[in-house]
Amino acid sequence: MTSLEQSLSLSLSLLFVCAGCVGALPSGPPGAAGAGAGGTTGAGGTTAGAGGAIATSCADAQNVLLYYCLNCHVSPPQPIYANLDLQSPNPERRLVGVPAYDGASGACIGQGNLLNRGTLPATGIFIDKMNFTQRCGSGMPYLGSKMSDAEIACLQAWANGLVMLVGP
Ligand code: HEC
Repeated sequence: MTSLEQSLSLSLSLLFVCAGCVGALPSGPPGAAGAGAGGTTGAGGTTAGAGGAIATSCADAQNVLLYYCLNCHVSPPQPIYANLDLQSPNPERRLVGVPAYDGASGACIGQGNLLNRGTLPATGIFIDKMNFTQRCGSGMPYLGSKMSDAEIACLQAWANGLVMLVGP
């Protein structure tokens, strides 16, 4: 186990501890609690949804993004990497209700949004690609292998928080 995996599984167990906190919303931007702190402290916010509580943040989301995604999806966005910036603030504005990139490197033109509005748990091209269940282009990380279940769950929670932030 890498220390990233260890800290992730710790945060995830914290998330499950918080699974009873139905209705408790994250107090800040999703993922902010653990930003820069090594990420073992923040329990995720949860919200009620069909089938029980849905995690809406993950303290380690920034670390997971840094490790797996920001090699390519940096700020300013690079047209060869689908022009997607997962680094700068307010990622919800670049993901939620935003259609796939229609430039030359885009493999998902006209195939829907990166994250869909108003759906929890979050759905969309972002979610499909990180689960390697995409219908267009490659799974992410590009040319890499699938992230661990804990890492995928962390980014799913982060994405849920972005969808919540934008609202229905
Ligand atoms: C080595 C570079 C690289 C890395 C690392 C990478 N990507 Fe990508 N990403 C690409 C390229 C190239 C495309 C365009 C081709 C495609 O969609 O398969 C893309 C496309 C995407 C898209 C679709 C964007 C659109 O508008 O069509 C999403 C969402 C995405 N990546 C998410 C991620 C996530 C999440 C991670 C980390 C888990 C990640 N990527 C890691 C290179 C990368």
